[in-house]
Amino acid sequence: MFIFAHRGVSGHFPENTLKAVQAALDCDADGIEIDVYAVDGELVVIHDRELNRTTNGTGELEDYSLPQLQQLDAGQGEKIPTLWQVLKLVQNRCVLNIELKGHNTAELLVKLLHKARGELGTDWSTLLISSFHHPLLQQIRTLAPELAIGALTASIPLDYCAFAAELGAVSVNCDRAFIDERMVKDAKERGLKVFVYTVNNEREAIRLQQLGVDGIFSNFPHEAKSWFD
Ligand code: G3P
Ligand code: MG
Repeated sequence: MFIFAHRGVSGHFPENTLKAVQAALDCDADGIEIDVYAVDGELVVIHDRELNRTTNGTGELEDYSLPQLQQLDAGQGEKIPTLWQVLKLVQNRCVLNIELKGHNTAELLVKLLHKARGELGTDWSTLLISSFHHPLLQQIRTLAPELAIGALTASIPLDYCAFAAELGAVSVNCDRAFIDERMVKDAKERGLKVFVYTVNNEREAIRLQQLGVDGIFSNFPHEAKSWFD
């Protein structure tokens, strides 16, 4: 079972911070998932459009400039990191799943990844780009066909994984609420891997393994590894 640290090791550290990413590297997670928005032409790593849940800021992300955002406390003295900082920290040591959250992120991402390949030696084969916004993924496919795509869905579409196949994705990334045998079978028939979010208990993890799921996103990647020992 492939284990992604969901928002880093977010069960023990402030989510989507460098501390949570470092903890994922320290526990040898197979992959790390982070969420990104575009702010002032930079990609910043944060999950919500509102600042109050994960930082000491208030109001909407879009009302802040990058320098203002970087002054906020994202928990335990951590700052909201940029994607660049995360790429530099991870340095190809595991799979990095970058989830595009906001508008105008696709072009910016591809531009940044070209720069990262040149300046940081980022190996694109370690990256998985995902989003619930499927036209954004289509844009990625056009701009950079070599980037692997994970097609996210919180639902079970009428034609199951057809949307993911159409996007040329390598995986379908599904919510644990609805994932079932039929969805997994359809994914397998289309040659897609199945990754499921967010799985924080052993019983569910084992059920998913029995269903034939390939990987899970967990806030507790270290504990998750032990469930499959
Ligand atoms: O990518 C898996 C999962 O992170 C998707 O949902 O809301 O936690 O970003 P969310
Ligand atoms: Mg996410």
